[in-house]
Formats: sequence, C-alpha cells, structure tokens
Amino acid sequence: MVKEILGRSSGVIDLDISRRKIEHLRLCAEKDVESAPSGFDDIRLVHKALPEIHKEKIDLGTVFLGKHFNAPIMIASMTGGHPDTKSVNEALARAAEELGIGIGVGSQRAALEDKKQEDSFRIVRDVAPNAFVYANIGAAQLNEYGISEVERAIEMVDADAIAIHLNFLQEAIQPEGEVDARNCLKAIRAICADVSIPVIVKETGAGISHAVAVALKEAGVAAIDVGGKGGTSWAGVEVYRARAEGDVMAEHLGELFWNWGIPTAISIIESSVGVPVIATGGIRNGIHMAKCLALGASLCGVALPLVVPALRGKQEVVDVLKRMVEELKVAMFLVGCLTIEDLRNAQLIITGETREALEQRGFDTARFSR
Ligand SMILES: Cc1cc2nc3c(=O)[nH]c(=O)nc-3n(C[C@H](O)[C@H](O)[C@H](O)COP(=O)(O)O)c2cc1C
Repeated sequence: MVKEILGRSSGVIDLDISRRKIEHLRLCAEKDVESAPSGFDDIRLVHKALPEIHKEKIDLGTVFLGKHFNAPIMIASMTGGHPDTKSVNEALARAAEELGIGIGVGSQRAALEDKKQEDSFRIVRDVAPNAFVYANIGAAQLNEYGISEVERAIEMVDADAIAIHLNFLQEAIQPEGEVDARNCLKAIRAICADVSIPVIVKETGAGISHAVAVALKEAGVAAIDVGGKGGTSWAGVEVYRARAEGDVMAEHLGELFWNWGIPTAISIIESSVGVPVIATGGIRNGIHMAKCLALGASLCGVALPLVVPALRGKQEVVDVLKRMVEELKVAMFLVGCLTIEDLRNAQLIITGETREALEQRGFDTARFSR
C-alpha cells in the first residue's frame, strides 16, 4: 500500500530535497523509528473516584494564538515537497478541517527551491479553509533565506503562524546536513520582528531546554513546540537511509544518537517560560495528551501515528484522532476535569528518572501535587 502510493510519482524529480521527503515518509511508515523514553511512564494523573462531573459535558475546546480549536491537538509538520506527498497532506488537512484542530506543513524548502513542489503544500489551505495552519522552514536554512522566502512560505498556505524547525541532530548525522548553526537565534529574532503572524519554534525530536526556551521567548517567539525525545527519532530515520546507501559513518552516528535528547515530559516543564507550549514527541494516546496538558502544555502535537493513516486517506486520520479524543475525555472524566483549563490544574505524581532529572535541574516537582 505504502509503496503503491509513494511509488507512483509522475514527473522526474531531480531535487535531492524532494527525494528525501519521500524516503522519510516511507521509512516512517515502514520501519521502527521511535526513540525512548518520553517520560510519560513516570507521570501519573491522580485518579478521582468521585469525579462529580457528567462525562458528556466535558469540553475540549481551547484557544491557541487567538484561534479556537475544538480539541487541543495539532497535526505536527510532516510533509509536502514531492508530488506524491500532495494526497498525504490533503488527507491530513481534510481531517484537521473536519475536527476543528490545527495542522502544520512539512519543511517548505523543496517548494522554495522548486516552484513545481508548491502544489503539495497549497492543497492544505485549499481543503482546510478554516483550520489553523502553520508554515514551516528550517533554522538551518535561515542563512540562505531572507524575509522574501519566509513570506513566500507563509503565502503558500495562507498561514496563521510560521514554524521554524530545529533539527541539528539530524543535520549532524546526514552526510549532506547543514551544520553551520551560527546566528540562528539572530535570524529567528529578525523573523519575529519582520513577519506579521506569530512565530513558533519547534524541535523535531530532541527537545528544548530551559535556557533555549528563555532565549526564544526573548527573541519574540509566540509559542514553543518542544518536539521532545520519545517519539520519532531523526537519528533513527537516518540509520535506515545510511544503511541503504552504505554510509558506515552516518549509520554509526545515527545508532549512537538514536535516543539523544530531552524527553518530551521534561521538555514541557523546561519550556514553560511564559509562552504557549505545544507538546510533541511520542504522543500516542489520550492519556499521554492529558499528562502533557496537566504538565502545562497548551496543545499536543501528533505526527508518526498519522503517517500510515494519511497514506490511506482522510477517514483513517479522522478515526485515529477521534480515538485519541475519546481517550482524552475518559482521562479527564477520571480526574474530574470538565475543561482543558481544569486539566492544567490536575494533580500529578512524577516518579523515576523524570523526577530525578527535574529535581537535579532545579524544577519544583511538588507544585504538581497541588
Ligand atoms: C514523516 C515525518 C516527516 C516530518 N517532517 C518534518 C518537517 O518537514 N518539518 C518539521 O518541522 N518536522 C517534521 N517532522 C517532525 C514532527 O513534526 C514531530 O516533531 C516529530 O515527528 C515528533 O512527533 P511524533 O513522535 O508524534 O512523530 C516529521 C515527522 C514525521 C513522522
């Protein structure tokens, strides 16, 4: 199925970036690419035997950067940039529109360098006229791009926000990676000053620390997506590419750094610096979502669990997300929370390595016992 959909490209695609997008999608659909741990197993919501609420009255609605979401879910950036990815983005965007949630497109670099690839991104806004949509460019590319490229990316999807992604772990492992990370913060600050829509900075699987979160806030970033460890590992994805290409060094580096980074649960607390936090990385069910929201996240981002469903069509994406929504509602019922705001004040127990790491880093874990 996956091969069928991803193998039917019409024209000849000569751009390496475009080809990589398909390889990434295929590897994420077919291989084990996850890292561990996310920290979620160390977090427990305190069960409330007397919830004293009607489950049917639970309201998952929330406002993020001024836009109403029916549920606190963002379909995290994944794809676009190759003709075969258009139907994947279409399925994801139709699901976002139907469910009243947000969606980010994958890195728009391929389309900024080859206009023919724009279609695979534009489809998102075409089929999701009311959804919160964010554009996406890589921090590693900011040295090459000026404000005009950033504006083109925004215009391409008529974006509500633009995400700048940080993926230096992957760049360091890819033989073709961009490893000049100097002046990124300066470039982020300039984009925050120059664009008229909110700027989100997102990691892509290795998490954001407190110091980086503070620097981003000071640079003018409107929200931080922690993109923590415990979900898709880009070091892991690169291992499979390296094996196929016989690149022994990249394979070794990918294996060694597979589980590198800050677990999502910890990164939510590290990044709580006064701007909204999106919890992404290893969110696989509604209990994970409830834990992230109770830790202080405003939204939960999901990528990998939607890859195979999106290759099959909108309905499968909707089904996975509806399942997560129902799981979240059950978790909220069992802790007696009617709203997302209530959930932010739910009691949590933090144990194990997550507790140790947070205490060593100087975070007050007792405040979650409330
Ligand atoms: C197939 C795939 C492609 C991705 N491509 C991008 C991308 O182009 N830009 C980006 O910012 N993040 C990208 N990501 C990272 C996700 O947005 C997310 O941060 C990460 O996968 C962690 O979430 P997960 O564990 O739910 O997959 C991609 C993820 C997947 C699975």
